[in-house]
Amino acid sequence: MRLLAAALLLHATKAAVTTLLPGTAEPESSDSVKLLKWINETENGFVHPTHSVRRLGPGFRGIFARTPIEKDAVLAVIPWDLCVTHPMDQDGHCGLSRKAVDALVKGETPYAKMLREYDPSLPNDWPPNARQSLDGLPPGDWDRHLKWFEAGCLKRKATEDERRGMYLMVARSGSSRAYEQGGYLFLAPLYDLYNHRNGKYHNTLVKVEEGESISIIAGRDINAGEEIFNTYGEGTLELFRDYGFVEPLPRVWNLASLRFVEDEEGRVTWPAAGPPRGPARDEFLNRLATLKRALSAPLPSPDDDAEAALLERASAFIGAVGGAVDAATADLANNRLSGEL
Ligand SMILES: *[C@@H]1O[C@H](CO)[C@@H](O)[C@H](O)[C@H]1NC(C)=O
Repeated sequence: MRLLAAALLLHATKAAVTTLLPGTAEPESSDSVKLLKWINETENGFVHPTHSVRRLGPGFRGIFARTPIEKDAVLAVIPWDLCVTHPMDQDGHCGLSRKAVDALVKGETPYAKMLREYDPSLPNDWPPNARQSLDGLPPGDWDRHLKWFEAGCLKRKATEDERRGMYLMVARSGSSRAYEQGGYLFLAPLYDLYNHRNGKYHNTLVKVEEGESISIIAGRDINAGEEIFNTYGEGTLELFRDYGFVEPLPRVWNLASLRFVEDEEGRVTWPAAGPPRGPARDEFLNRLATLKRALSAPLPSPDDDAEAALLERASAFIGAVGGAVDAATADLANNRLSGEL
């Protein structure tokens, strides 16, 4: 009896370990698993065996740690030659956009295959009906990158491939130093496969040795079953514009001319100068109320499934912005009640 219990317990423990990883493991034959192998088998390349690439939904992957990882452990070393790189001081952003097009169109490596898979369908490219659902909402400058690219790099309209190359540069590139200090802009395999999440979830660091490699390092202890996250930057509105997804908490908002944070638990903090006070506070609340009205405009009814999917994304975005408006408004009301203002 006791033995049986022990056996059951052992079984349960094992089952618990496997259920820690969500979704389904990508098969050995998938492009993503092949990509990891390719890096690992390249001279001076390395991918830690803890990596488990999981399919989380249609078109949505995540990379999880199978085993616990200690802070500062090397998760991956990506040799420079496997990356698409361009020197910053030679028209860095235009240059890398062009090279991304070459990699997309002519590349035959496992990485080129992954790049071709990239289909962000950013709000700027949505068909008019879906796109209209975002009219009047922040950040508003939905065509920011395309405008810069066509005016600053091409001096003409972009072709479909050029547009995709530019979006790859915007969304998936990293830089070896702070922009004004030169260095390189790069697209790197695996580096751009980790999903984004900030705050306590962000658990990696990126170390670039120019001309040598790009390393992914554990930024803190990582538990078995945790997703391995990179950060794509800060600003929930800008991330939606540039990547097309609504990031989960924590979220950083540049809303109604002020910056505030919803932390991991949804609590509002004001990192810059504290919450607005006096007339600035009233003006901020007025702007939030105006925004709230814009957010409540009804969504168009979709013409087909593709449009329905886009409107669902618009609706998730509108919901997140509305939640932030409510949270900031409530936080200021609480402050006033508790006599802080
Ligand atoms: C990378 O190669 C090493 C040594 O051959 C191996 O132990 C490790 O499991 C490989 N990593 C992956 C992710 O396959």
